[in-house]
Amino acid sequence: MIKLNDIINIKIEKLTYGDCALSRYGENNFVIFVKGALPDEELKVKITSLNKKFARAEIIEILKPSPHRIKPFCALYNACGSCQNQICDYNYLIEQKTLILKDIFKDIIDEKLIYPIIKSPKTFNYRHKIQYCARQTKNSKRILLGYYKDNSHDLTNIKFCPTQPEIINSITQFIRENFPLDCYDEKKHKGILKNVLFRINSANDEILLTFVFNSTQNDFINFESLIFKFSKKISTQFRELKGIFINFNPLKTNNILGKETIKIYGENYIIETLKNKKYYIGATSFFQINPFAASCLFDIVKNSIQDNSTILDAYGGVGAIGIYCSKKTKEITLIEENENAVLMAQKNFKLNNIENYEILEGDAKKHFINFQKENKKFDYIILDPPRSGCEKDGLLAISKTSDKIIYVSCNPQTLKRDILELKKENFKPKFIQGVDLFPYTYHIESVVLLERE
Ligand SMILES: C[S@@+](CC[C@H](N)C(=O)[O-])C[C@H]1O[C@@H](n2cnc3c(N)ncnc32)[C@H](O)[C@@H]1O
Repeated sequence: MIKLNDIINIKIEKLTYGDCALSRYGENNFVIFVKGALPDEELKVKITSLNKKFARAEIIEILKPSPHRIKPFCALYNACGSCQNQICDYNYLIEQKTLILKDIFKDIIDEKLIYPIIKSPKTFNYRHKIQYCARQTKNSKRILLGYYKDNSHDLTNIKFCPTQPEIINSITQFIRENFPLDCYDEKKHKGILKNVLFRINSANDEILLTFVFNSTQNDFINFESLIFKFSKKISTQFRELKGIFINFNPLKTNNILGKETIKIYGENYIIETLKNKKYYIGATSFFQINPFAASCLFDIVKNSIQDNSTILDAYGGVGAIGIYCSKKTKEITLIEENENAVLMAQKNFKLNNIENYEILEGDAKKHFINFQKENKKFDYIILDPPRSGCEKDGLLAISKTSDKIIYVSCNPQTLKRDILELKKENFKPKFIQGVDLFPYTYHIESVVLLERE
């Protein structure tokens, strides 16, 4: 039996969802998880934690490396927690992600119907939403902007990130050198600047910049003039900045955004183009991080819909999927709870000359239950919930309103849970197709078409 701190040799069997490789050890195949390892590699590892079911270990030496192992292309890879899997070539990573998807779903979906994951058209400079944390060094008060190291609140100052558009590196540096207020100190719950967020379109010529403040909107008056001066300076320097916002989040919380946001410069939105559709995107409304792969994802949804259909675009955001599929639709009903996204969705339907639409604001579950009471019917329901998936009673209610559900998910585990619920209502998966929206991370986005038998 292995013990804590034991040093042993193991061979990796496979990658699992969530950035860990799995190995089985000894006669009873005890499971050991290791970070930063690849299938078939032979490793010397040290056991770092242990329970009855599995252990975790760290690599001491790679005895036999995988032929797919590469040197991470980002110098900060080991210090920054925002990428995983930069240790193997992209084609191999996609094969592994497909195997992970098969592993998760093979007991509930025929393996032939689990299709190979579609690669992202771009694997560098693909992230078009960036959420940096802000901190300051103790003595020199230098501003640091970047991501936390894995499983910690230690900030890595990121001066160059190959996954985002280059202009973001330049704007970030300008903020480091010119921002006029102190950054947030988590331990003391003092200082003002907590986060810096960017939303940029795929042409890289329109950017929304949001500063998250550890203050209330009433306190803004204390630093208003400094901020307006700074915003003039930065918007003159970077013409791509279309709008600058302050979000107020004075609470001690892991949520990045607080409830109140004000605009201090420019426009309320930028415009994104996917194929022949145009979208207004607000500073705090959801839009897919990787617009290049988003088209691939939306194509799968569109190709699953028959002409002249009525669709429910639930968790619809700014209307991205419904509008993308509008050529196939007779009528679109969109449900969204974020006020800013609802405003953008209204503008987006008009911008794309779509007339037959209805937008329902508020919690999706509440609307699902109302639809069931009213005996409402749709030809297709598109579900694209957040990572936590759908609530069970909401899912049950909405399943009564259609025989076809297209479920788009960024979390295979909650997707599986929800498919199992839908199976109880006689829905059967017709296929599952992954799309790599998040290259060089463990994340997997997928679309499932479910039809009632
Ligand atoms: C994963 S995003 C998908 C957005 C959109 N389908 C797209 O592809 O751009 C999920 C969306 O659901 C919204 N949302 C989250 N919880 C919700 C709820 N309980 N009811 C309605 N909308 C919700 C979020 O504001 C967000 O816009």
